[in-house]
Amino acid sequence: MPKIVFANWKMNPGTLIEAEKLCAAILDSVKNIDSKLNLVIAPPFVYLASLLNLLKTKSLQLKAALGAQNVFWEQKGAFTGEISAKQLQSLGVEYVLIGHSERRHLGETDEFVNKKIIAALKAGLKIVLCVGEWERNFNDDALIEAKDFVKKQLELDLEGIRNLELGIRDNLFVTYEPVWAISTNSSGKSDTPESAKEMICFIKQILNSLFLIHNSKVLYGGSVNAENVESFLKLEEIDGVLVGNASLKPDEFRVIIKAGSRYA
Ligand code: PGA
Repeated sequence: MPKIVFANWKMNPGTLIEAEKLCAAILDSVKNIDSKLNLVIAPPFVYLASLLNLLKTKSLQLKAALGAQNVFWEQKGAFTGEISAKQLQSLGVEYVLIGHSERRHLGETDEFVNKKIIAALKAGLKIVLCVGEWERNFNDDALIEAKDFVKKQLELDLEGIRNLELGIRDNLFVTYEPVWAISTNSSGKSDTPESAKEMICFIKQILNSLFLIHNSKVLYGGSVNAENVESFLKLEEIDGVLVGNASLKPDEFRVIIKAGSRYA
């Protein structure tokens, strides 16, 4: 599976016109990059339909798709404000982000995350589950404590997933995103590639042993930018990057995509 560069736009930009401009600028700037890299752009729900139409008009050499930033577990009905996996698919959305720390911070529980994962996988979406510790003390036991936290998160979020068919489980991607390293929390200080790699290998072991996912794909997220992206993507064990802030700046994001294309 080629590497992934996943753009999480969060609640940006402020208007549809700006979103279309940003998406067009990104796609135009990468249209000559010939690579197996998978590019995914996840804008707010309200821009998905227009951006999907825009994507169709661009002829790109790399594979680009759209993702949503959330999904609900029921298919339809009296759930005001929610959006189902089927509704996303009917637009042409391929990926959905589940369990981002900013949603957990607003009250999203592991139980909710688990229901969303199962429903979205059953519907045929590719899901990107975000896990990661909130803080790190940087003492000797810091990584051990972080691993315990992430293991618990995976156990809760992925409960029951072993009962799904293997082909369906293959659509599960995980992002290790230490919350303290997200640019808005850290003023741009990412985890080190070595420590991210160690955690990612640990996550892959858990996915293999507890959930029977043998070829898992695990990304890194948290203050990835044009300067540090290469140090993460050149590591074989890191299957891609989840990019927030830097994905809103087309010039910088192009550098990130170019780096991704070299290691895809
Ligand atoms: P950041 O955000 O790249 O701005 O740190 C990543 C994320 O929260 O998805």
